[in-house]
Amino acid sequence: MATANEAPILPEVASGPAYDSGCRRCARLALFLDDTRAAHPDYVCLPVPPFGAADAPLVIVGLAPGMHGANATGRPFTGDHAGIILYRTLYDYGYATQPVATARGDGLALIGCRITNAVKCLPPQNKPVPAEIRACNSYLSADLCALPDGGAILALGRIAHDATLRALGMAASSLAFAHGARHALPRGVALFDSYHCSRYNTNTRRLTPEMFRSVFDNIATHLGREGARAASALPRK
Ligand code: URA
Repeated sequence: MATANEAPILPEVASGPAYDSGCRRCARLALFLDDTRAAHPDYVCLPVPPFGAADAPLVIVGLAPGMHGANATGRPFTGDHAGIILYRTLYDYGYATQPVATARGDGLALIGCRITNAVKCLPPQNKPVPAEIRACNSYLSADLCALPDGGAILALGRIAHDATLRALGMAASSLAFAHGARHALPRGVALFDSYHCSRYNTNTRRLTPEMFRSVFDNIATHLGREGARAASALPRK
């Protein structure tokens, strides 16, 4: 495995198979989805695919779909409480055409941004186990393999941070997660860390909107999107 200072990384890392809506690699998660589908026949209840263009310069990595949000709608963070601050911020920084995400088909499009999860299936209690995170990791590699040189990855939480490093062929322990950190990776790519924008973290103010925006300011600087950063200072719609 490569360390922080070594190539290879993108895109030489073997990309795993692309998203598979029929994946049943993790028995516990597959059975939980079956049960959830039986209880909520109107929910999508499938592995949730990445959202946004494959070659977007910013890829955001979350943890896993929420029961009544991404798992129900079939789109990352869509309908989840965690999606409220995420999509609002993406809109403010010019990465989304709308500030609110309610459903696939709500008209929202991402601009230069892709959103995915470390684990594609809904986990019980929002807690995937380490074997499930590992089993899903080749899909995350596939999600990241078209990231352009000089791009940015935003990891939402330590699990996403570790899964991202692993997906890039690096040891998960090679770079420590820290909110607000910017880690330089080969090919001019930078990995940014933020506390996860979960309901718990935002309600307890472990993550405030200002803290989240500061991370996006740093990403804008890295990507040379000063215009987007200026737009973020405009009054909210
Ligand atoms: N919804 C997602 O899609 N991912 C998360 O990490 C949380 C909610």
